[in-house]
Amino acid sequence: MSTRTVIRGGLVITASDELHADVLVEDGRIAALAATGTPAAQAWTAGRTIDASGKYVIPGGVDAHTHMELPFGGTFASDTFETGTRAAAWGGTTTIIDFAVQSVGRSLREGLDAWNAKADGKCAVDYGFHMIVSDVNEDTLKEMDLLVEEGVTSFKQFMAYPGVFYSDDGQILRAMQRSAENGGLIMMHAENGIAIDVLVEQALARGETDPRFHGEVRKALLEAEATHRAIRLAQVAGAPLYVVHVSATEAVAELTRARDDGLNVFGETCPQYLFLSTDNLAEPDFEGAKYVCSTPLRPKEHQAALWRGLRTNDLQVVSTDHCPFCFTGQKELGRGDFSKIPNGLPGVENRMDLLHQAVVDGHISRRRWIEIACATPARMFGLYPKKGTIAPGADADVVVYDPHAEQVMSAGTHHMNVDYSAYEGRRTTGRVETVLSRGELVITDREFTGRAGHGVYTPRSTCQYLL
Ligand code: URP
Ligand code: ZN
Ligand code: ZN
Ligand code: ZN
Repeated sequence: MSTRTVIRGGLVITASDELHADVLVEDGRIAALAATGTPAAQAWTAGRTIDASGKYVIPGGVDAHTHMELPFGGTFASDTFETGTRAAAWGGTTTIIDFAVQSVGRSLREGLDAWNAKADGKCAVDYGFHMIVSDVNEDTLKEMDLLVEEGVTSFKQFMAYPGVFYSDDGQILRAMQRSAENGGLIMMHAENGIAIDVLVEQALARGETDPRFHGEVRKALLEAEATHRAIRLAQVAGAPLYVVHVSATEAVAELTRARDDGLNVFGETCPQYLFLSTDNLAEPDFEGAKYVCSTPLRPKEHQAALWRGLRTNDLQVVSTDHCPFCFTGQKELGRGDFSKIPNGLPGVENRMDLLHQAVVDGHISRRRWIEIACATPARMFGLYPKKGTIAPGADADVVVYDPHAEQVMSAGTHHMNVDYSAYEGRRTTGRVETVLSRGELVITDREFTGRAGHGVYTPRSTCQYLL
């Protein structure tokens, strides 16, 4: 049987180009592109032909920030690697980079082994790992070098969550100095967690227990302050910096200033900050708990700065920070005390569609859609051009996308293992139709045709996005 597939007649969109072209896939990779209707394209024969006329042909999404099965607040994120990567495929994402966790007192290796074991043989699409560093010491620093060599080339540190994932400025500086030497990229959760914990305690003492107070104590200024501090620590260390889940106008301003100064400072935002707001956190009857994540949702006025940052490239990546907890039994742990609501939102299935809606709404261009959702995350985390583009030699991770189909997002129809949708009832234009992962059909005309274990661990090179 032929291992060749031809995708005919679509509009191929990459971060740099749009062209009406046929795409030849062979042995799991893109073999060639040729303008539709030309003799070169017509000469191709293949065992399988996919008709993409009237559709977009785009690279599979690269979601550089997910938390399948993350232990948090006494429970676990409700998507496993199996359910979460299947939902990713449904949403047109063919690569995730999840976060392995080092526990305090344990080695990085133990954490990485544990996460490899969770994912091995379970994933529908390809995956890699960042490492959460919770305990910086001499041994950890040495282990960082080894991990970089093995393809775990990025490390998340937390200025928030004292007593859990938190690192102090000295620990952060040490890890940054090490990454300046070994080529690793520090990813920062930039919120002043020490100050926030004081405000949490004071709020609870005043009887302010509702989910909306989660947004009030985690102040935009404390995100901006931490962002500023992280930037200056990275500057002192001579290391690049990637700030995760940026939500506040004031934090974007810090990134913009640093980039104007020529620093290798990068920022990621997430669909929830672009499409949701404190209005959701304020929903009555504890419904606001569905929208508790950190950094928190902000008042609507912040969205303009995020869209602007995405247009000016002061923000480079949109990832989901997919970290689902069911409303029933999980979010409910925080009834009567917002600080006990597990932090995180579902979204791995929704990202490509929400960002296409941003194209429809005029916030970004089609090529920018592909850049922030596919190409730049691949380059930022050392997967390019294997992932993130459609070009000869790249993995055949390809989505046939119908830009005219209408859909309504809902927990009733989504594939994430969580009992609510953060976007319930939202109408969007555009829908994933067919998805190839390394040349294999994982979604075929809106049917799941993939399998657990098709997705493989994908080691990464160091950051390919440095100035
Ligand atoms: O609320 C969030 N973001 N949960 C996941 C953990 C993190 O900080 O990214
Ligand atoms: Zn056209
Ligand atoms: Zn975080
Ligand atoms: Zn996260």
